[in-house]
Amino acid sequence: MTTESHAPASELPDHEIPTIEVGDLRELQLERLRATARLVYEKVPHYRAAFDAVGFHPDQVESLDDIRRMPFTTKADLRANYPFGMFAVPREQVVRVHASSGTTGRPTVVGYTASDIDTWANLMARSIRLAGGRPGDIVHVAYGYGLFTGGLGAHYGVERLGATAVPVSGGMTERQVQLVTDFEPRVIMVTPSYFLSLLDQMEAAGIDPAATSLQVGIFGAEPWTEAMRQEIERRTGMDAVDIYGLSEVMGPGVAQEAATTKDGLHLWEDHFYPEVIDPVTEEVLPDGEVGELVLTSLTKEAMPVIRYRTRDLTRLLPGTAVPSMRRMEKITGRTDDMMIVRGVNVFPTQIEEFVLAEPRLSPYFQCVLTQPGRMTQLTVLVEPHERLDAAESSAIARDLERAIKTHIGSSCRVEVRNPGSIERSIGKARRIVDERPKP
Ligand code: DLL
Repeated sequence: MTTESHAPASELPDHEIPTIEVGDLRELQLERLRATARLVYEKVPHYRAAFDAVGFHPDQVESLDDIRRMPFTTKADLRANYPFGMFAVPREQVVRVHASSGTTGRPTVVGYTASDIDTWANLMARSIRLAGGRPGDIVHVAYGYGLFTGGLGAHYGVERLGATAVPVSGGMTERQVQLVTDFEPRVIMVTPSYFLSLLDQMEAAGIDPAATSLQVGIFGAEPWTEAMRQEIERRTGMDAVDIYGLSEVMGPGVAQEAATTKDGLHLWEDHFYPEVIDPVTEEVLPDGEVGELVLTSLTKEAMPVIRYRTRDLTRLLPGTAVPSMRRMEKITGRTDDMMIVRGVNVFPTQIEEFVLAEPRLSPYFQCVLTQPGRMTQLTVLVEPHERLDAAESSAIARDLERAIKTHIGSSCRVEVRNPGSIERSIGKARRIVDERPKP
């Protein structure tokens, strides 16, 4: 299956933001879904077995709703087929692999044909454009280069857009600041949490972040909140927009927020079909309802995915900046990041909003889970911008505990640590530290 064999999504090349009408989009999706279902059934033993097990045959795809008859795919399925068992093409046609780190066990490996890399570059170019990037821009790429999809994914998109990529990767924060000062990039692509470290480093070097050349920040790879956007935009004067993706489905560039609307992320629906399900009952939810995002790739060759359960929580909304493509709301968190504290569900993003609402606190925080008795205890570690006396620290802790109790409904302890003491990341921040005994 090649993308060329399909009717064009529109008159525009694939690296441009599509103007396709919704009716034509649905037709294109159906055609591509059919081809993908056939491809995986023929080429990937896992899918043949999984389809057979539910009595589904690719020839039965008559409408987009028939996707609901296909089985879900999970991370466990990818692990069970480690490393190359989910590939739908001979390994020799795979020009690149990436892998997601995974905190435990085997990583998940993903592969790309030359045409997959080309599609990915196009979707990233679109994404950067929607974020406010332009051909001719200098783009500082501080996502990690390597097995992680962030760095190389962004890089190819920048080149495809016709902009200049500065492939800095993560780390060596002082040098990053130097390069921003010297090369004068207009766009930066980085995790929001590492960007905060860059801002601190700029301020430490006597540079006003609002006075740099940076105008657009394309932040993703981890959850971040509207409050964080406001904090970043206030400190820098930039447009801070969200980018989403996951290695299993492609990498960054599955969905992108528009700088002009900043109202959630447009899914590139000509290449991915989104559904939202109830994570417990697995029932498909109507647009507008919050649940787990499930994605099906429509054009991938090396490693297509059918109904991949992302574990990311969001809801689908109608298109705005790109009218025919649905948006997904900013992600609240992953199902596995949901902390259950005395019967109440809490996500780190909820905590982030309260931390950012206190101007004396820096935006760094961590949620530590312990189990002193039978119950889980949540301790939120925060740090002030400047050293505070004991009375001030305990007043802040008390206020934050109260706000969290009132608005989230969960009792927690807040510990105000010394400035600079909370773990910094050069990639994705570790928001939850689980110190409970393993079951
Ligand atoms: O994080 C791909 C990526 C790179 C996206 C750079 C954006 C920018 P993985 O390492 O496979 O891939 O992790 C994917 O990260 O399932 C989400 O839980 C989380 N994630 C990614 N983007 C966002 C976002 C990359 N914008 C996992 N908001 C996903 C919230 C995000 N969570």
